[in-house]
Amino acid sequence: MVRVFINGYGNIGRRLASALSVDKEIQLVGVAKYTIDDKVKEAIDNRFSVFVPSEMLGAFKEKGYNVTGSIQDAVKASDVVIDAAKEGGGYDNKKSLYEPMGKPAIFQGGEDRHGDRAVADMIHNSRVNYSKAAGRTYVIQGSCNVSGMGRVMQPLIEKFGDRIGRYDVELIRRWADLEDTKAVKDSIEWDRNPHHQDDVKDFIPNANLYVDAFKVPSRMMHLHQMFVRFNGKAPSTDEILGCYRNEFGVAIISSAKGTGDVRKKALELGFAHGDTNMVHIHQDILRVQDDTVKIGYSDDQTGMVIPENHLLLQSMVFKRGREDALKRTDNLFQISRKRKTLEEEFK
Ligand SMILES: NC(=O)c1ccc[n+]([C@@H]2O[C@H](COP(=O)([O-])OP(=O)(O)OC[C@H]3O[C@@H](n4cnc5c(N)ncnc54)[C@H](OP(=O)(O)O)[C@@H]3O)[C@@H](O)[C@H]2O)c1
Repeated sequence: MVRVFINGYGNIGRRLASALSVDKEIQLVGVAKYTIDDKVKEAIDNRFSVFVPSEMLGAFKEKGYNVTGSIQDAVKASDVVIDAAKEGGGYDNKKSLYEPMGKPAIFQGGEDRHGDRAVADMIHNSRVNYSKAAGRTYVIQGSCNVSGMGRVMQPLIEKFGDRIGRYDVELIRRWADLEDTKAVKDSIEWDRNPHHQDDVKDFIPNANLYVDAFKVPSRMMHLHQMFVRFNGKAPSTDEILGCYRNEFGVAIISSAKGTGDVRKKALELGFAHGDTNMVHIHQDILRVQDDTVKIGYSDDQTGMVIPENHLLLQSMVFKRGREDALKRTDNLFQISRKRKTLEEEFK
């Protein structure tokens, strides 16, 4: 049994907690809460041990919450920490907790890979560099978009190699997650310096890749368009789709009209947290024009990275082979079953 503490209980932390708590190889030490709000009750009701900053122990108890101890106690009791702090908070946790206590940690995609606040020297993508994480102390799990790009690009690279000259990706991101309380602003915003391009190049360094990112007023899901330029005539749509027919965590669907249809279907089908945990290639907008293939795919922002974290844990801590790890992750998240259901529902 490996003892895992999840430092954070936001959109990502709470999903990680519910998935890892039913993995028999993992002993979930607990989750961290920093703010006294209704999520504390949710965590306790879910039977997770809740750890809080030591100076706030009294305040949580005064409110009637039966918290287990301090965050320091939890880190000390763990073999590995999965940091699920809000963007950028992982760096401070590394400096104040994980490094001094000599604990390995997985960080999320909102953390820096380069610069003064870099937390690790590797970004994990289970499709591309799974085994490189084995035995490392600190690794970043790529963000949802970065994970999705790796998942869509790598099969193309393996099949078409040097025939591909360039990738341009327009990331269209949701404004907020369904559970977020923040308002959705009626505006389309652009990102002057999207981190996604450099993040993907961390694990696919030779890709001639250019990324732009926009944020739109939606809570449902991301929708991205990848333009793949070939040297000469592009392959047929069948050849492109053939790359994904047996890809873990990639569904090929045809009849959805928008991201809301996919999210609502996941909720209606009772998928945990309303997540599909994958990317969905929209066959109906897959276009081949001269030297260019245009792939439109939606990316389940909240769900995508949860199985990725589980895979990373298996590489980093258990040093397990990828095939075996995929089987275990599939078993836990039922990705293949969900994929089949979605393909059937949206055929
Ligand atoms: N949301 C997504 O779709 C998504 C997808 C992929 C990757 N990510 C990445 O995952 C990370 C977490 O995102 P999120 O959406 O889960 O954020 P979130 O919902 O805002 O949750 C952030 C959590 O951080 C906790 N927190 C506050 N101070 C902390 C500290 N010092 N150390 C640890 N945790 C602290 C907060 O606790 P309190 O609520 O108790 O204050 C909250 O539970 C980010 O790096 C993000 O970029 C997010």
